[in-house]
Amino acid sequence: MTAAITRPLSQTALLTELDSVVAQNLDRHLAVAKEWFPHEYVPWSDGRTFDGLLGGEAWSPEDFELPEVARTALVVNLLTEDNLPSYHHEIATLFGRDGAWGTWVHRWTAEEGRHGVAIRDYLTVTRAVDPVALERARMVHMSTGYTNVHSNEVLHSLAYVSFQELATRISHRNTGRVTGDPLCEQLLARVAADENLHMIFYRNLLNAAFELSPSQAMRAVADVAADFAMPGNGIEGFARKSVAIALAGIYDLRQHRDEVLVPVLRQWDVWNRTGLDADGEAAREQLGAQLEELDKAASRFEEKRDARAARLAAR
Ligand SMILES: [Fe+2]
Ligand SMILES: [Fe+2]
Repeated sequence: MTAAITRPLSQTALLTELDSVVAQNLDRHLAVAKEWFPHEYVPWSDGRTFDGLLGGEAWSPEDFELPEVARTALVVNLLTEDNLPSYHHEIATLFGRDGAWGTWVHRWTAEEGRHGVAIRDYLTVTRAVDPVALERARMVHMSTGYTNVHSNEVLHSLAYVSFQELATRISHRNTGRVTGDPLCEQLLARVAADENLHMIFYRNLLNAAFELSPSQAMRAVADVAADFAMPGNGIEGFARKSVAIALAGIYDLRQHRDEVLVPVLRQWDVWNRTGLDADGEAAREQLGAQLEELDKAASRFEEKRDARAARLAAR
């Protein structure tokens, strides 16, 4: 790795400089990633024909006992996975389809494609969610598409996906837990394990960018932490759904701060980085201030949630 550069690198220079790190991490990823099969997680013989063309039985909530918030989270997680064509477009456009970057883009897309396939098959066969509502929501969601607010910036995008993959990992894992269904839990734990490897890949890349151009990397991380939104935030009714998801402890501000931002920032050693220019220092200060703000907001939410739980218990 070359010594720290104070002058900002162009987007093309960043991609070129990081190329060897992509190649190394691709090898690492392929060595540790375990092959798995979506069809093994689906209880096919529990399936029944639906109404409509084949004249079977319409879906009813009693078909599969599940807390309402588990259905909400499963649908949000699946719709998030469904928007893969937009994500692929974003990273293929930015990272390119050649060399190690291109190999990663395609491999990552193939792995992500498995998530939507597995979860949809599972939900359809078990009748865990309304398949008509799900399909309509998918049409609306995918028709809107997804654009990353920092889609033209390599380091911002790497920071975003580092946080986002970890956020998705936590959300899948906790959704599995809330379903209370051991098979669903196993499936979502399997998906979460993929997301974790994705996070490590992107986190390692940005770590290399910190070595290469620390101030630029710090700026990217601070900007992304400041305006982070979950990839599914374009889902219809997302605000209401995400509150339900937070109230159930599947994904809330505390987890976002303490289980996503803080550990990744620690891995990048942001608090001890040297060789920052004025903007790099300013970015780090913003980051610190933002974590404090988040801490307060998370505590306020937790107090409200506790008070709400107490009210419900008293009824
Ligand atoms: Fe995924
Ligand atoms: Fe992922």
